[in-house]
Amino acid sequence: MTNPNPIGIFDSGIGGLSIARRIRELMPNENLLYVADSIHAPYGEKSERYIQQRSDTITRFLIEQNAKAIVVACNTATVSAIKNLRADYDLPIIGVEPGIKPAARQSKSGVIGVLATSQTLKSESFNNLSRLFSESVRVEIQPCPGLVEQIEALDLEGAQTETLVARYVAPLIEKGADHIVLGCTHYAFLAPAIRRAAGAHVEVINTDMAVARETLRRLQIHNLLSNSPQAGATTFWSSAEPSLAHRQLSELWGEGLIVHPMR
Ligand code: DGL
Repeated sequence: MTNPNPIGIFDSGIGGLSIARRIRELMPNENLLYVADSIHAPYGEKSERYIQQRSDTITRFLIEQNAKAIVVACNTATVSAIKNLRADYDLPIIGVEPGIKPAARQSKSGVIGVLATSQTLKSESFNNLSRLFSESVRVEIQPCPGLVEQIEALDLEGAQTETLVARYVAPLIEKGADHIVLGCTHYAFLAPAIRRAAGAHVEVINTDMAVARETLRRLQIHNLLSNSPQAGATTFWSSAEPSLAHRQLSELWGEGLIVHPMR
């Protein structure tokens, strides 16, 4: 059995490319569809209802493009919408989760820090996850308003971005965190800046590869893997202004690709 249909991946913008690139590494022969909903970013400052509606519209669109599985490559959409998506659509739907578990296991100081959007940090699923590890570590949280916008603007190392990163990382270090968990897929693109702000003794934890592995596992279970010997294609849609969308994808994915507009 083989299934050449694509894997659909979406995020509020370009953050989910950090997951998509791992899926590409792990499954080079799979076809991928990526939707960047940049015009509606940041999801982290929107209501749960709004995020659910966007997630539903995009999932339906990806299924219309024959997606065989959906990867919600966004922490905020995962905590807000994945339950509804799983109830409404009959295909594997994989979400993302901040790496509190690996950070808690490795922490020596007994304090870990989580950078994420306000919406993620106040969600029930995040708080349940955090509570699971509350006996072994203290979980310090830090919402990061403005960071997603910097990444969407491709300002990964500019002074304004460095200042914001330092402002968000410093309180976690002061509280004794020796691990910083990236609880938003966009922040993977700021990992170097976050490492600089945190210092060499602090470990930065990202779950992008774990999500790719989970996607592979779910495709295997459902007999949905492609056995094509050819390299898979990646097709992009973005709701950003087309020239910005093109710059974003060229810089973070590679030159020469086509980005389809979407509303
Ligand atoms: N990449 C999204 C996440 O993982 C960013 C959310 C936003 O747009 O605020 O949470």
